Amino acid sequence: MNADDFLDIDDVSADELDALLALAADLKAGDNDTRLTDQTLGMLFEKPSTRTRISFETGMTQLGGHAIFMGPDDIQLGHGEPLKDTARAMGRYVDGIMARLFDHEDAETLAEYADVPVINGLTDDAHPCQTLADLLTIREQFGGLDDVRVAWVGDGNNVGQSFAVGCALAGVDLAVATPANYAMDDAVIDRADELGEAPEVYTDPAAAIDGADVIYTDVWVSMGEEDKREEKLAAFDGFQLNDELLADTDATVMHCLPAHRGEEITDSVIESDRSIVWEQAENRLHAQKALLVELLG
Ligand code: CP
Ligand code: NVA
Repeated sequence: MNADDFLDIDDVSADELDALLALAADLKAGDNDTRLTDQTLGMLFEKPSTRTRISFETGMTQLGGHAIFMGPDDIQLGHGEPLKDTARAMGRYVDGIMARLFDHEDAETLAEYADVPVINGLTDDAHPCQTLADLLTIREQFGGLDDVRVAWVGDGNNVGQSFAVGCALAGVDLAVATPANYAMDDAVIDRADELGEAPEVYTDPAAAIDGADVIYTDVWVSMGEEDKREEKLAAFDGFQLNDELLADTDATVMHCLPAHRGEEITDSVIESDRSIVWEQAENRLHAQKALLVELLG
């Protein structure tokens, strides 16, 4: 990998993305030669996490290294120390930093001041590690990424934005349906366009899922948006992945999790045979191990 940090999915080139996914598949298949012996990953979390925390920590252990979890109250960052000071001190101890932060600019500040690779474990704008796992999952399920058409249905949020750029990089056909007021940022659509594959954009879920092999959704109310809950639930009426919306398609269903069952997806759909959400969750581990090897190895 050319880039020192992984803050956005397009910090890797199309070829590097392809190589990362291939390495992830090898690691998943049992390649035990690739090691990060004695290396330490510092993990900073401003928001909660199940999958990101556990998969990074387990991944470092499996690679022969170690990870340190730091929640908002565990270190001086939550008690007045500036982020740039935390970054410089941490960089003197650990071999890499993974951070889940609210403000994407804070991830950039961390990367600027820390002398070690910084990985974005989710910001308000992006979730590139999720995209690696998502593309690995599609690649496995369909035997490749060519000729796969995906529909993103729901909020134009962090997970969707990284996925849209990732699809453009990987050459995956994407249609997006969001309520008009919750579209992806123009910069994201422009970036996907520059990479050669702007998504088709709709406000009607039925139009987006027409002809899709995969339908992907995420929560309507992301972490930090709790005060917008009522207005968002009203705006997303009609966007739920339920048996009625999916009646005429046999498309596979993806969700990055955690799911809010009864909001963006029904219990019936997430528990159905078309759902590959557990494969997707597992692939966080394999995809991130590949990323750690590339960045820290
Ligand atoms: N998908 C994802 O990032 O899950 P967590 O919030 O549990 O880490
Ligand atoms: N969009 C969700 C993703 C959680 C993994 C959030 O930011 O809360």
